[in-house]
Amino acid sequence: MCKASSYPVWQALRAHAQETASLQINALFAFDAGRKEKLTIKLDGLEADFSRTHLTDESLELLLALANLQDIEGRREAMFKGEKINVTEKRAVLHTALRAQTDEPILVDGKNVIPEIRALQAKMQAFATDVRTGHWRGATGEKITDVVNIGIGGSDLGPRLVTEALASTQTEGPHVHFIANVDAFDSRSKLAQLNPETTLFVIVSKTFTTQETLLNARTARAWLVATLGEKAIAKHFVAVSTNLEAVEAFGIDLSNAFPLWDWVGGRYSLWSSVGLSIALALGWDGFTALLKGAAAMDAHFRTAPLARNMPVLAALNGIWYRNFRGAAALAVLPYSERLRNLPRFLQQLDMESNGKSVTREGEGVDYETGPIVFGECGSVGQHSFHQWLHQGTSVIPVDFIGIRTDDMNAPENHAVLLAHMQAQAEALQAGRHPDDPARVNPGNKPSTTLWLDALDPYHLGMLLAFYEHKVFCQGILWGINSFDQFGVELGKKLANEILEKNR
Ligand code: F6P
Repeated sequence: MCKASSYPVWQALRAHAQETASLQINALFAFDAGRKEKLTIKLDGLEADFSRTHLTDESLELLLALANLQDIEGRREAMFKGEKINVTEKRAVLHTALRAQTDEPILVDGKNVIPEIRALQAKMQAFATDVRTGHWRGATGEKITDVVNIGIGGSDLGPRLVTEALASTQTEGPHVHFIANVDAFDSRSKLAQLNPETTLFVIVSKTFTTQETLLNARTARAWLVATLGEKAIAKHFVAVSTNLEAVEAFGIDLSNAFPLWDWVGGRYSLWSSVGLSIALALGWDGFTALLKGAAAMDAHFRTAPLARNMPVLAALNGIWYRNFRGAAALAVLPYSERLRNLPRFLQQLDMESNGKSVTREGEGVDYETGPIVFGECGSVGQHSFHQWLHQGTSVIPVDFIGIRTDDMNAPENHAVLLAHMQAQAEALQAGRHPDDPARVNPGNKPSTTLWLDALDPYHLGMLLAFYEHKVFCQGILWGINSFDQFGVELGKKLANEILEKNR
């Protein structure tokens, strides 16, 4: 049974939510001086503070009971061990194996996947190093200065987020650009800045059937061939895909293809060959530090007791608001310009995973599932939609993300940025109550604060794995399959039919 509402504890949570509807976060702090400490989890330079929420001992107890009934620990083990938990597509879900730090075997259909992962990583490392050192050169002998990642969805958002977030730590290596949109402006505006002799294209498509990506890849090929001729393709195009036949049919030599497996979901794929442009930008040490950070979060998620488990607590808190306190959305507000793509990345991760209406057994749900995820960098968002967070009629939980280190060496900017973040959390919680109703901030609005000691590959890896596991836990709590995305297929099919008709 996976329908969450079929357990008596679901009704108990409803009743408890009604009883505590007027509970004030301020009062929770007043009653318990140790609340912040009790609801903060620290792990290796990442800290999650859940204290500015309506979570109480009693609500947590009920939510943990639901987690146990939905067998979160059993499902978690099933994922890590490579069982086919993506039941509709009959696939394992093994992005965690991609960042495993030991060679302990992980079996899919009786076959250990670790040796294939190590072979792929060796190929990625050699290629990234060759390009970065100039050992690999373009067709005319020039060093590669620019890499263009052509992909969309999971084949774009993860690599884009990571390379842009960490560009300031990059001391050498090519500049990485991204083309995702089939709107020709995207490809034209990027290609116009580039020199074919020094440009390498990485075509990333798990299926290698995605229309937008293939059209953009053909545009790039035509652009290159127009100056350098067909023969240059071998030195300027590489591909990442599960579909090596289609890669070959496109004209890319299989020695320049980086494989991928069906047990890596698109939105969970930046740790695989899909992260090739990350390795090209940051170098192999940077890429492995990212994997190590994610592996540290995997180990925490797999072993920490549920009540002290960062992704589990975040998931329970999200369910508490979504299903029992009426929240339709989650605002993600990174106080870091370099994390400007995080909300977009999380939109796919969360909404494509948990935008579902039937359980794993195919039964319709009678409760809300994944929220709307939206966000913007602090402090930019403060001057646009935060008004709605403070005085609007909806209660929207917020994730604030702050970086402790001033690694831009700009103490004044850093101090202002962080003061604003802390002020927003405080204003949402405490509010203010002057006589003039138009000026009242009702307060009592929840937020979680995530602190990273530094914005480096390791801590970014931890943060992204944290969100992956949070989304996983919420899918388990709702009893849905977070790993398929059949909803997007109809639109693709209709677009092809309409295209034919319109021609
Ligand atoms: O249309 C949705 C989707 O299938 C995503 O899940 C995926 O990340 C994206 O398209 C791109 O797919 P591909 O990597 O196969 O081109």
